[in-house]
Amino acid sequence: MSEGLQAPRGTLDWLPPRSAARRAMIDRFREIFERAGYGEAMTPVFEDTSLFARTAGESSEVVGKEMYVFEDQGGRSLALRPEFTAAMVRAYLEHGLSREPLPVRLWSAGSCYRYAAVQRGRYREFTQVNAEAIGSDDPAVDAELIALQLEWFTSLGLAGLELRLNTIGDPTDRGPYLERLRAYLDAHLDDLDGEVRRQRDLNPLRAFDTKVPTSAAIMAGAPKITDHVSLAAAEHFATVRAFLDARGIEYTLDPTLVRGLDYYSRTTWEVSWPALGAQSGIGGGGRYDGLAAAIGGAPTPGVGFACGVERVLLALEEQGRSPAPATPTDVFFAVVAGAARPRLHALMDEARRAGLTCEADLAGRGFKGQLKQASRIGAAWTVLCGDDEWARGSSLVRDMTTGEQSEVPLDLLVGHLRATITGWTDAA
Ligand code: HAM
Repeated sequence: MSEGLQAPRGTLDWLPPRSAARRAMIDRFREIFERAGYGEAMTPVFEDTSLFARTAGESSEVVGKEMYVFEDQGGRSLALRPEFTAAMVRAYLEHGLSREPLPVRLWSAGSCYRYAAVQRGRYREFTQVNAEAIGSDDPAVDAELIALQLEWFTSLGLAGLELRLNTIGDPTDRGPYLERLRAYLDAHLDDLDGEVRRQRDLNPLRAFDTKVPTSAAIMAGAPKITDHVSLAAAEHFATVRAFLDARGIEYTLDPTLVRGLDYYSRTTWEVSWPALGAQSGIGGGGRYDGLAAAIGGAPTPGVGFACGVERVLLALEEQGRSPAPATPTDVFFAVVAGAARPRLHALMDEARRAGLTCEADLAGRGFKGQLKQASRIGAAWTVLCGDDEWARGSSLVRDMTTGEQSEVPLDLLVGHLRATITGWTDAA
């Protein structure tokens, strides 16, 4: 595997048994969102580079510094997706989804790629779960998305989350405010870090996103966009809050929360799990009413969010929670009579079809080795078939907890296992 692209070794949640936790988290996300009318969208892993440049913005770190860009054999510039949102809106426009009942609601899960400095919770290939509602400017949609996102965290057993919320108004109303902000930045230019100085010309709002403590202290005193949004944007935000308040959702208002991508307008939010330290952001989102027009479509409002699966997994592990308890093995087939193996393996298939989790020795182990393997994988029952049992057309079924065993004819074996383990009989 190429250097550094994957999570560092030690973070083995791409492999069993930990990959089961990742799968369970995505399954839970799907359940929650499909119950709310969201359907799954599977967009490509790479897109035209310009799609991300025009939407997430050249001034954002994600586009400006972190994208994996390459040229294909036809000379086109392509980028591995750093996020889902732009591709979802592209798909909405390209496939005429505006003719569907609005808002069109889509969820996705998959790998995203950002050339970031790898550290705990920050990887170059990571997994997002993502949800977008496209085609409605109703503030109820913003609130519902936040509520569903929190429900996902809660369903996984994650406690101690912080939700921060802000409105950054509409880009069209920002002119006079940006003048004031630039004047403030100019007055403090010598004390601000290079990245903030760069943002002064590109997108001064992004200066609030600085992680440099001295710059952050200066930005704390800067004029805030929230105090300069239009009446319509302020009313929209008040309604989002009313919908959250009615649900009893707690949040902190953070007038510096501008988010790291350029396409946002109006509502922005972030969820963090503070104990994760530098990479505590486990999810974030917002409204992007100008994004569709930025890629050449009709003006179309939209709102959504994404969460980083690896970070949520880290937070769960720190709280001692696992979203996927290991599936216990019901039966291990320990077959020592060589002639018996084909028949016993066929019976094992039948037991699996009956819903039981079964394994057999596949590595030529002797009798003792097979029993040891049955214990190692935590099998609740072991079917033993040696030469004597095979000659009698039967097998021994051993309860691995008590050690008790009974002889069961092979013709009745699967029915017996199913009745013993699930309580179901053929008659039922
Ligand atoms: P984002 O805040 O850039 O938003 O990313 C969302 C989440 O992805 C973060 O909160 C974090 O948990 C996770 N994440 C980001 N970068 C990394 C990384 N390098 N390693 C591990 N996890 C990471 C977006 O991507 C927007 N598209 C969200 C959105 C959807 N807004 C509207 N709709």
